[in-house]
Amino acid sequence: MHTKNEYIAVFDSGVGGISVLKELCKLMPQEQYLYFGDSANAPYGAKTTEEVRALTLEAADMLLARDVKALVVACNTATAAAIKDLREKYPDTIIVGIEPAVKLAADRCHGGTIGVMATPVTLREEKFNHLLERFSEEQIISISAPELVSLIEAGATDEAIEAYLQPILSPYKNKLDAVVLGCTHYPFAANVIGKLLNTQILDGGAGTARETKRRLEEAGLLHTGPGEIQMENSSNDPTLLTRAMELLRED
Ligand code: DGL
Repeated sequence: MHTKNEYIAVFDSGVGGISVLKELCKLMPQEQYLYFGDSANAPYGAKTTEEVRALTLEAADMLLARDVKALVVACNTATAAAIKDLREKYPDTIIVGIEPAVKLAADRCHGGTIGVMATPVTLREEKFNHLLERFSEEQIISISAPELVSLIEAGATDEAIEAYLQPILSPYKNKLDAVVLGCTHYPFAANVIGKLLNTQILDGGAGTARETKRRLEEAGLLHTGPGEIQMENSSNDPTLLTRAMELLRED
């Protein structure tokens, strides 16, 4: 039986889901959050779908064995690989995933050219390809930047991120009506991406937070405070938790 003071668990392969946690905190500051980053196993985006599915189920089992009223899968890669399995395994739990915000981009730039940056797993999964079938009037270009998650996990400087992204993104400069950040790590590189592409940047973090609030409200499970954030990480590198807190506070 759920009580109103349980945690909202937020899960990602590493520190990326903090971009979603920020949106959740903005919308529901009175909630208690349990953030778990699986940095010991990041990046997920370069693994096989089966590996990502197994890691996601393992993390969900660990989190849902605790005082948790909802699970936010703040990772596009884990959502693409495992959301169906999670919902089957935990049919009575509120489980919210994240997917590239292509609909938001198509609404804003109807008939335009939209870039989608995401990990290799997200881009090749059926879920994403089904999503694209719904947008025949827009030209959608998938852009893969396989090292970007590792750079962000490692706390790379903007200069290092720019040096890596420059050759990948320069062919698209001034050619996109919008770029969708389809990986929750990428908002932490938004300044660099914006500079290199010169276009509007969209991501699904705020939409995921709104959907989480809607589901909790519907179930009568909103908490009235005080809010709290608990950070956990599978890596035994202590700097990751410090970095997670920095990213959370970063404007
Ligand atoms: N943050 C994850 C996402 O949204 C991916 C990271 C990874 O490759 O581990 O897709």
